[in-house]
Amino acid sequence: MSQAKKLYLETFGCQMNVSDSEKIVTLMKGMGYQQTQDPVEADLVLLNTCSIRATAEQRVYGHLGKFKSIKKAKPGLIIGVGGCVAQQEGEKLLKKAPFVNLVFGTHNLHLLQGMVAAAEAGKRSSQTDFLDDEKRFDLFPHSEAEGGVTRFVTVMQGCDNFCAYCIVPHVRGREISRSAAKVLEEVRVLAEAGVTEVNLLGQNVNSYASKQPGEPDFPELLRLVAQVDGIERIRFTTSHPKDMSQRLIECFADLPKLAPHIHLPAQSGSDRVLERMNRGYTASQYLAKVAALKEACPTIQFTGDMIVGFPGEDEAAFLETMALMEEVQYADLFSFIYSARPGTKAAEYADDATRAEKQERLERLQAAQKKTTLARNRSFEGTVQKVLVEGLSSSGESLFGRTGGNRGTIFAGDPALAGRVLDVKIVEGLQTLLKGEIVHD
Ligand code: 5AD
Ligand code: SF4
Repeated sequence: MSQAKKLYLETFGCQMNVSDSEKIVTLMKGMGYQQTQDPVEADLVLLNTCSIRATAEQRVYGHLGKFKSIKKAKPGLIIGVGGCVAQQEGEKLLKKAPFVNLVFGTHNLHLLQGMVAAAEAGKRSSQTDFLDDEKRFDLFPHSEAEGGVTRFVTVMQGCDNFCAYCIVPHVRGREISRSAAKVLEEVRVLAEAGVTEVNLLGQNVNSYASKQPGEPDFPELLRLVAQVDGIERIRFTTSHPKDMSQRLIECFADLPKLAPHIHLPAQSGSDRVLERMNRGYTASQYLAKVAALKEACPTIQFTGDMIVGFPGEDEAAFLETMALMEEVQYADLFSFIYSARPGTKAAEYADDATRAEKQERLERLQAAQKKTTLARNRSFEGTVQKVLVEGLSSSGESLFGRTGGNRGTIFAGDPALAGRVLDVKIVEGLQTLLKGEIVHD
């Protein structure tokens, strides 16, 4: 009896990588590989990597060392590296790491089966060419619809914005959008498989199809997705504030299926820093979009990303970031110390603040956000929220779901309720989640 070959897949970084990894699993299943959680029993190890900050990249090299030792005991083990570090390093990675068999970039998933077959036959290879617009259909291979409650659907990838600190345009290439027909087809298949919520994914979804005349733009795409029966809730991520149009803002007023949450990274509250970052808006323009969103949808919850210690950020600029946070009242905020990425514009700037200064700013920012998050979570106490049940909580003792505003909520109930949107009364707002009880009528 032949035993299935085993794939051990590790994913680093953002949701785009998580979504690509789902496609990798589907592609490898097609070659007879079953996924395993134990690298020691694997025949094929694939790392889907991230290079957004130096720490992310270092983790990849750390993990590669671990697989090198496993391969010593099992020389037939095939090791592949994909994603953003692979895109950056290409052939160099094969030279630096002789135990690596294949390197595939962010536009090369459609070549992966051939590369793994070549590796099985003893050939090492690297593919990191970007696809041009005509080949864009190859960029979005289909992933198997295995149901679940909530799923990501990629609508575009790449970025044309070139924020001065960011490696993404360099490793993901130019913005390329998937056709609306393909997006809708995938959403329909997911709805039929029982999926309740879709999260439309792209580095900058607001500029969806801006280079494809004849395709619907993002607000129109949202309206089309909202017509799919069975999908009860729609989210999208990530939005660039400069491309947040009034028409998109109005979708929050008009589309009941669109969840009242937006991830809208400001990155800084200082106009001088925003300009050096090449973000294309000022703090007051950002705040005007926030105000328009609150007007269109008074219950909307904001999350965001913020960078501290960007070159040229002094104490006064940092205080402007804190003031912007105070005004927005983010439900949650992801905050990072600036990390110079080779090849980006900002890597040429003098990095003037000391490590200790940056760390101290990060801690002040995070302490302030922690207070806001708790206060906001407490403000839900006594309210009734629409919660989409995702399944059991991590402790296994209660159910876990998310409010429209994307706040994690736990409550008692039957696991068979997974996939349903229920009225849940919030009884307690904690630091990281809400506690509630199902409202029975
Ligand atoms: N240094 C620190 N943070 C960064 N981000 C992107 N590039 C860098 C960098 N070089 C942050 C931004 C972005 C999030 C995904 O990661 O805040 O929105
Ligand atoms: Fe990076 Fe800016 Fe593009 Fe976001 S919009 S992926 S931060 S370059």
